[in-house]
Amino acid sequence: MIGTYYYPEQWPAEEWPADFKRMAAMGLRHVHMAEFAWTHLEPREGEFCFDWLDRAVDLAARNGLDIILCTPTAAPPAWAAQTYPEILMVRANGRRVTHGSRGQRCVNDPQFNRLARRISTALARCYGDHPRVTGWQLDNEIGHYDNAPCYCPACELAFRSYLQARYGDIFALNQAWGADFWSQNYQSFGQIPLPNPQALPHLPNEHALLDFRRFHSLSLARFLEIQADLLRENIRPEAWITHNFMTDDAFVYPRHVRRGLDLYTLTSYPVSGKFRGPGGSQNFRIGDPLNVAFHHDFTRTHNGRWGVMEQQPGQVNWGSHNCRPYPGAVRLWLWTAIAHGAELLDTYRFRQPRSGCEQYHEGLVQLDGQTLSSGGEDFARVARELTQLAPLMEAAMAPEMPRAAIIYHWDSLTALALHPQTADFDPLTAWHRYYRVLKELGFQVDILAPDSEHELAAYDVVCVPFVDLAEKDWLERWRQYAIEGGNLIVSARTATRDTRGHFPKCRYGQRLMDLTGGELQGYDVLPPGHKGRVRLADGSAYKWNIWGEQWLAPAGAAVLATYEDHFYTGTCAAFQRSSGQGSLALVGVEASELSEALVRQSILRRLPDIRPLPASCLYHTRDQLGIFLNYSDQAVSVPAHLHKQRPVHIGSLETPPAGVSVWQLAPGNSQVITST
Ligand code: GAL
Ligand code: ZN
Repeated sequence: MIGTYYYPEQWPAEEWPADFKRMAAMGLRHVHMAEFAWTHLEPREGEFCFDWLDRAVDLAARNGLDIILCTPTAAPPAWAAQTYPEILMVRANGRRVTHGSRGQRCVNDPQFNRLARRISTALARCYGDHPRVTGWQLDNEIGHYDNAPCYCPACELAFRSYLQARYGDIFALNQAWGADFWSQNYQSFGQIPLPNPQALPHLPNEHALLDFRRFHSLSLARFLEIQADLLRENIRPEAWITHNFMTDDAFVYPRHVRRGLDLYTLTSYPVSGKFRGPGGSQNFRIGDPLNVAFHHDFTRTHNGRWGVMEQQPGQVNWGSHNCRPYPGAVRLWLWTAIAHGAELLDTYRFRQPRSGCEQYHEGLVQLDGQTLSSGGEDFARVARELTQLAPLMEAAMAPEMPRAAIIYHWDSLTALALHPQTADFDPLTAWHRYYRVLKELGFQVDILAPDSEHELAAYDVVCVPFVDLAEKDWLERWRQYAIEGGNLIVSARTATRDTRGHFPKCRYGQRLMDLTGGELQGYDVLPPGHKGRVRLADGSAYKWNIWGEQWLAPAGAAVLATYEDHFYTGTCAAFQRSSGQGSLALVGVEASELSEALVRQSILRRLPDIRPLPASCLYHTRDQLGIFLNYSDQAVSVPAHLHKQRPVHIGSLETPPAGVSVWQLAPGNSQVITST
């Protein structure tokens, strides 16, 4: 399950044998190739040249490595752009991009699709039956860098067809878009332009923008589905197909891919200057555990099978501040993925490049092509540790953790980002506060779509943050969950609009009032320089500024927070009440520590035995293993309620900074070889 990317086309062929040998000697099990190699595979249109890849595949196999092959469609050759300039995407400023980087193609362009299908089919036909080619990756990090959708004529046509299929006739579209406003009505689909804020004199129609965002993500998904279909026709049934998503790209929703992916994978780069770490400590070299974990939990819950396709191997080149990761951090990240159930660990890349692009990007092997980097040492060590613990990872065991679900509704988060109502409201950041609290309290967290088939009754807690565009039956499902004994926590801005993004004809927030039994009197947001004060039931006081709803709590509810200033002083900001066998909490105020405190308190009021994990640490069980991950720069003792004096196989109960401790949950498996 552990391996590396390798680009044979970037290295002299005489060096390949030593490279593959070194991979095998490090304990790696697979190698990933051909990702951006289109020009080497099809140097001239229709002329295929696979002999170099044959040799590389053969050498890899002879070294006992499995092979993951990739469709090379993220990097079309120069001849393609020269012959068919229409395959190049168009930026919002109306200019086509040029050849000379990667990701330049528009997935809606028919010509590009023809070329992409041809090379992918040829590759699949050539290697589809190879017994060592065990997996296939489609394209690379689907999307466009900088979150820029394409505005080319092919996209315009495709957008119109999408709308026609979605709405059937133009009257329905006008209605869905509220197009009577400002004479925006269309008489035919042919009149509809791509909603490009840079091409509009004033505010765009937000329904059009939301549909465009859906269309954009769905187009990328369709492109992957088509590739998956044609691969599936040509590869052996045991080989899996995946795509390596960039999970923090809010413009691409992996669950829009409905078919074809056997497992979902992601690319993970915890240290690139984005996360500065609290208090100027060393955490910036280790990364944000809750962010790393989110990407794992999110990817894990798409269909249950997942992996990390690119685990940052060391220092990178593209961040704002490409500092050295903390010694051992790469191993910590790998163990975080193992803990969350990854079935595949892979890294970009084996050798650090000496020229081209990404020159300062470390690999597993340094510039001399021989010496392992510190990330390389970490990979080799984890490969050994996995061999050692393999017997304990064979029999699946239910996680020995409390379970929570959190609803993630991409359409709502997208719609709220388009209409935040205050510049300080970032829906994803707000959503993450709920997720963070659940992880800090040691829950196993499933991230579910609102219409997911998962049985909610299986969860001790269900959080519903910012599901604004809600369907009626989702509300009914959540209500039922609480009545039957669950603990439901609902955020502000939930269910105010329907799935089209319209306000229903009722009082603002009526559906949330019906769900919670409270009465919403209004909401406020504060301009820069202003903070409001809120007092919690335990006497502590917090500031808020982002979003504050004024509620009248239902009779019998516990008021969790009260506003202490402005003209609504004394009104309720959060409450919790019992509901049938279970409970229901409404957190009506949004501001970092405050909303986190309210979510935490509403959980602990119901589940008082839950104990928070030590700061900056994660805990997860996998099969027979308990795994404790220390993302802080201090040594941390593993809490006794987690390890329960069970046999420790890796590390000790004092986990060093960026360290890992692994113990055995079910006692008495003697097959484990104890490490020396
Ligand atoms: C990833 C990308 C790789 C490589 C890497 C560098 O986002 O998929 O191809 O560019 O970043 O860190
Ligand atoms: Zn386009």
